[in-house]
Amino acid sequence: MTALTTTDLKIEPAAKLAGHYTPPPDKSIAHRALILAALAHGRSTITPISRSADVGSTVSCLRQLGVSIEAVKDGWVVESPGVDGWNPPERALDCGNSGTTMRLLSGCLAGRGFDSILIGDESLSRRPMGRIAVPLRRMGAVIELSSGDTAPLQIRGSRLRGIEYRLPVASAQVKSAILLAGLDARGETTVIEPEATRDHTERMLSHAGVDCHSEAPPRPADLREQLLTDTSGGTIEDQTYHRRITLGERRRPRSGEWRLPGDFSAAAFFIAAAIGARRADLIIAGVGLNPTRTGLLKILRRMGVETEQSKDHSATGEPVGQIRVGAVKALKPVHVTAAEASLLIDELPMLAVLAARADGVSVIRGVSELRHKESDRIASVTLNLRAMGAKVAELEDGWAIEGPTAWHGATIDSRGDHRIAMAFSIAALWADSPSLIQNAGIVGISDPDFYAALMALAR
Ligand code: S3P
Repeated sequence: MTALTTTDLKIEPAAKLAGHYTPPPDKSIAHRALILAALAHGRSTITPISRSADVGSTVSCLRQLGVSIEAVKDGWVVESPGVDGWNPPERALDCGNSGTTMRLLSGCLAGRGFDSILIGDESLSRRPMGRIAVPLRRMGAVIELSSGDTAPLQIRGSRLRGIEYRLPVASAQVKSAILLAGLDARGETTVIEPEATRDHTERMLSHAGVDCHSEAPPRPADLREQLLTDTSGGTIEDQTYHRRITLGERRRPRSGEWRLPGDFSAAAFFIAAAIGARRADLIIAGVGLNPTRTGLLKILRRMGVETEQSKDHSATGEPVGQIRVGAVKALKPVHVTAAEASLLIDELPMLAVLAARADGVSVIRGVSELRHKESDRIASVTLNLRAMGAKVAELEDGWAIEGPTAWHGATIDSRGDHRIAMAFSIAALWADSPSLIQNAGIVGISDPDFYAALMALAR
C-alpha cells in the first residue's frame, strides 16, 4: 500500500500550464478489475498498476481472503482459487479510506460460507453503510452495523436470494454491491437506477462473461400503451428510470486480461488547471471517456469551454481517448441539477472552484450526497473558497457561488480529503501569493503522483 505522508505543501502561483499529461489508471475500474479477477478461478492480469492507496486497500483485503496478487513490471498478476475457495479472513478486513472497497466487498462477502468484519479509517467509519445493508439484508444477508449505521460491518455468511431493488440514492457503489451479491443469489437480481451512475460494474461483468443486461425504460409511446392495458395498479414512477440492470443465468466471472484506462477524475483537475491559467495548452492522453464519467465536459461546454476530444480505442469495454484543452478568458456561470450531478459526482469540488472564476452567479444544487464523501465536501469547499476570497453561499444541498474572484493565497484545510486538497492546489495556482495545502500527502488516496505531474506542467 502506498504510504501517505501528512506534510503540508506550499504552492506558488503559476501563469502557464502546458504539455502532455497521462492520468493514473482509473481508480474505480482498478477496484473492480481486482475484485472480478479474485472472484474468477485462475490467473488474470491487470495493467498498468495503480499506486492509489484506496486501490491498495482492495489489494490487501483480497490477499487476506487467500487471493494471490503479485506486482510485476507494470501490472498485477492475480491467481485466485475462485470465490468459492476464498479463505475466512483471520483479522478484520481494513478498507482504509476506501468506500468502494468496503461497499463492493460487502456485496461479495454477504453470500460466503464464512463470517467477516470490515473496518475503515476515521473518515470511512463516519460514512453511511445502511444504504448497502438494507438491500443486502433483503437478499438474506446478516449484517450488523454500529449505531448510526456505520462501519465496522459484521457480516455473517448466508444464503442469498435475488431481489428487485430500486436505488433510493444515486450510487454506483450501492448498485455494484447488490450486483456482486447477486452473483451468489438464488433467483434473479435486478437493480433499477432512477439516475445514471457510472456503469463500470455492468460493463466489466459483461466483459468477464457474466450475463448482465442493462435496459432503458420503455419509450413514452410504449409506456402509454402499457399503462392503458395494465391491471396491476402500476404507476408511472415504476416505469420511469434510467436503467434496469438484471443478472441472467451465467454468473461466474472468468479470469482474463484487464487493461485500465486513465482516470478521468484525476484528469479533471488538470483540465481545470488549464482552463483557469493565463496561457495553456494541455493534451491528456489515454484517458477513459465513459459517458457516465465525463459529465463535467458537458457542464464545461455550457460555461463556454471548448475541449477537443477523440476516442481512439477501447480498453476492456471502456472507451479511451485524448482531450485537448486551453485557457479560457471569460467563463460563463452555470446551473447544475441533481439529474446531471451523478455523472460528475467526484468532479463537483473542482467545478465549484472553477465556478468562482466565472462572471456571475453559478448554482449547483441537488448534491447533498457530497456531505457523505471522504469529508463533507459541501462544507469543505465553502470553507476553503472563502479562505481564498471567493463569494459563496452554502446551501443544504449545494452552493451558490458568485464570481469572478480575486484569488488570495491562503492556508487550505484539506480535511483529510484527497479531492479537496487537489481542487485547492489548482486554485492556488491562480492566487496572488503562495498558498499552504495542509496534509497535502492525502492526494495519495487516489494519485500519489499528482504534485509531480502538476509541477511538471505548471510554470
Ligand atoms: C464510486 C462511486 C461514487 C464515487 C466514488 C467511486 C465507484 O460513489 O463518488 O468515488 O467506484 O463506484 P457513490 O456510489 O457513493 O456515489
